[in-house]
Amino acid sequence: STSSMEQHYMNPRMTTPYPDVIIGNPVQLEKKKQAIRAAGLSTLQVIADFDMTLTKYLVDGVRGQSTHALLKSNPVYDMKRHELFEHYYPLEISPDLPVDEKAKYMEEWWGKSHALLIEGGLNYESIISSVAKATISFRDGITQFFETLDEDGVPLLIFSAGLADIIEEVLRQKLHRVFPNIRVVSNRMEFDGNGDLTGFKGRTIHVLNKNEHALELAAPLHDDDGNLVGDNNGAAIVEGRSNVLLLGDHLGDLGMSDGVDYDNRISVGFLNENASNWLETYKEAFDIVVLNDGSLKPVIELVKELG
Ligand code: TMP
Ligand code: MG
Repeated sequence: STSSMEQHYMNPRMTTPYPDVIIGNPVQLEKKKQAIRAAGLSTLQVIADFDMTLTKYLVDGVRGQSTHALLKSNPVYDMKRHELFEHYYPLEISPDLPVDEKAKYMEEWWGKSHALLIEGGLNYESIISSVAKATISFRDGITQFFETLDEDGVPLLIFSAGLADIIEEVLRQKLHRVFPNIRVVSNRMEFDGNGDLTGFKGRTIHVLNKNEHALELAAPLHDDDGNLVGDNNGAAIVEGRSNVLLLGDHLGDLGMSDGVDYDNRISVGFLNENASNWLETYKEAFDIVVLNDGSLKPVIELVKELG
């Protein structure tokens, strides 16, 4: 009979012919582990993407929703946002578009999409009900992962080009508790006294600047008078921590640590789509590749090994 541990690592759906965890270069990974272990957990910070990294790619066999996609408000405006998606998403993934041109389009997309949320009259109540109805689920092991980091005093930044208020609502509804060592660095909404959306705080975080200037964007935001606005200040809790554990599902997520002058970085890549085409690339790019929509167990074990 198999132990529960083995069952965890087995692939129940056989979505790919691969095991759930693949390490491309075990010798290099071991060296990084030793270096971080020697420096201690007090030097470690975790940077994680949200959609399809902390959340599952498939929820009961159905494609999971991203923070933008799950938000349901005024149907006419939801349709308009969907039309923007159909126009701009092909530009986001186009291999031919120069990056500066692409960045311009992404600025445009996020700008228009955020404006539609305001025009459509989004109310905070609809965020709560959208999250309650959404097809979204955390990866198995999320609570244990957050608890392990909390116990070890390791800060976690969740970086997303999605919507901070939705991510925080998902955390509230799914976990029923608040972890003091977690900060969400994402696009943050402003509401009036009636709970109606009036605007967004600070600079827009889209897929391209998330990858290039994540930590600069995470710095405390100030208004024209120099007052701190919002709590998009994840930089404070990771300050001085020179070792990074990075979790992402896209190759571009590796850029989330570009703003950190780190000594060692261990990266974990969740390979959700086209595994056979992408496996070799992911094995080169990430220290650890998780397949088959696998759990966070290997990441939890890694943190324990580093302690
Ligand atoms: P992320 O994985 O970094 O959070 O990327 C955000 C994704 O959200 C990106 O692929 C584009 C998508 N998106 C929408 O689906 N709808 C929108 O309105 C916007 C602005 C982005
Ligand atoms: Mg993602």
